[in-house]
Amino acid sequence: MNAKSELDLNNIPKHVAIIMDGNGRWAKERKLPRVMGHKVGTESVKIIVKAAKELGISVLTLYAFSTENWKRPSMEVQALMTLLKTYLKSELSDMLQNNISLRCIGQMEKLPGDVQEILVQVINETANLSGMSSGLILNLALSYGGREEITMAAKAVAEQCIRGEISTGDISEELFSSQLYTAGLPDPDLVIRTGGESRLSNFLLWQASYAEIYITETKWPDFRKGNLIEAIKDFQERERRYGKTSEQVKEN
Ligand code: FPP
Repeated sequence: MNAKSELDLNNIPKHVAIIMDGNGRWAKERKLPRVMGHKVGTESVKIIVKAAKELGISVLTLYAFSTENWKRPSMEVQALMTLLKTYLKSELSDMLQNNISLRCIGQMEKLPGDVQEILVQVINETANLSGMSSGLILNLALSYGGREEITMAAKAVAEQCIRGEISTGDISEELFSSQLYTAGLPDPDLVIRTGGESRLSNFLLWQASYAEIYITETKWPDFRKGNLIEAIKDFQERERRYGKTSEQVKEN
């Protein structure tokens, strides 16, 4: 029996979000510069995007660059931006062929101009693929921070109130969600963190409220389809109660 056949294909998480951690440590263990960890990590990105599509995941969010990552040495930031640009350029035709639609969450305007340009191009060229039933939305979190996102949404809602478009009584979870970068996307069912740390690191703070969290010691450059399958199997063994009792869940 191969690994995939043990998965319940009727219970594949719709939205998987990944904190791709451990690139630096992976490189250090091999006495390589940190940037090599990111470079090999880009290969993991390609493999996991393909795997997510094959497994029937609808949305894959990858935490590629946080608002805090700007504090890293400028050489590392530059290398990450170059890797991102090269990745987008090289993957566009593959995305078009395989119904993969790119989205981006985060402060896109803070990214270097050339990265913004290729991002906008790939987002636009792949936009009409998101409606395909077999398609995958690849959602890149770039210059993303959960607190920044929530603050931005709060400002947008406050401005709607000030303009008299809504009253405070109209503010609901749905209305607030519609002002987040993830508007229109389902909340993540499963958040995976590689590299063994047990932190959310400012990732999808609002959206991950009911997500199952899976932490693996495997560092991102070593993360492969088999690791993703393991995470999904673990997810399938969990009971998602959303505040109800176990008995209530079984009754439904
Ligand atoms: C965390 O590892 C990883 C990052 C800050 C960057 C992730 C980027 C990539 C995988 C490559 C580029 C992305 C795409 C989408 C092409 P870390 O450096 O913090 O690792 P450490 O905790 O071991 O130091």
